[in-house]
Amino acid sequence: MRPFLRSGAVLSADLSGRHAIVTGASSGLGRHFAVVLARAGARVTLAARRLPALEETASMIAGAGGSVDVVLLDVTDAGSVAAAFSCESPPFDIVINNAGIAHNAPALQTSAADWQGVIDTNLSGVFRVAQAAAGRMIAAGIGGSIVNVASILGLRVAGNVAAYSAAKAGVMHMTRSLALEWSRYGIRVNALCPGYIETDLNRDFFATDAGRALVRRVPQRRLGKFEDLDGPLLLLASEASSFMTGTEIVVDGGHLVSSL
Ligand code: NAI
Repeated sequence: MRPFLRSGAVLSADLSGRHAIVTGASSGLGRHFAVVLARAGARVTLAARRLPALEETASMIAGAGGSVDVVLLDVTDAGSVAAAFSCESPPFDIVINNAGIAHNAPALQTSAADWQGVIDTNLSGVFRVAQAAAGRMIAAGIGGSIVNVASILGLRVAGNVAAYSAAKAGVMHMTRSLALEWSRYGIRVNALCPGYIETDLNRDFFATDAGRALVRRVPQRRLGKFEDLDGPLLLLASEASSFMTGTEIVVDGGHLVSSL
């Protein structure tokens, strides 16, 4: 058993013998999730559209002794999703449905194309991947765990993110529907809902006055770090959550319970 909490190490997860796929693994949270799963012993397939970025992550994981491969995947393209889950590759029993895009604009200035782009990636893309993955699991006679990465914006709203929030709320309700339909196959489907996590993309914003004001509304008065998601990710991915399906875990420093 490998410890996955750097300090304290009160929890551990052993994913030896498991095969995970992480969508959107070329950067940000997806890349981190892949490292965490590999560190816990899973063979990890990194899936996204940018081969060089995937290969860079793969070398990092392989260099640390992990078992890893890469596959090109565009979650908006049904053919690409079908190819990633074809009979040519072994079925995945852990699926981290993480690929997503952000779009910030007032609702009145959100074009039909912008709306469609967010929904197609963040909602329909999650469905395409879950459906293809579950179909392969069922055909192979194995169960598995699907973790859909949603957001606290699926539970509450903020300005200028109508399409994103609608997509994430859709992901959470879809998670419940899929859990209901696929329990009979031993497939669990849950959602992970991060609050604001500091990444390369948003670091500059959080250094501004507006960004600092936002952080002050988080009861714990800080942004999330990638590592804050490790325990919840491993819980949902592993058999430690074998009686959990159709539910969500919120990791947000208390942001959803901020004072009205
Ligand atoms: P990111 O932009 O660093 O990563 C998104 C990944 O998805 C990238 O690798 C990108 O290439 C990939 N991707 C985008 N469209 C794709 C497509 N059509 N096919 C395949 N891959 C595609 O962003 P970040 O922050 O790491 O976000 C990851 C997930 O976490 C997203 O679903 C996001 O909505 C969610 N999230 C992020 C939060 C944050 O504060 N960073 C908070 C809550 C949720």
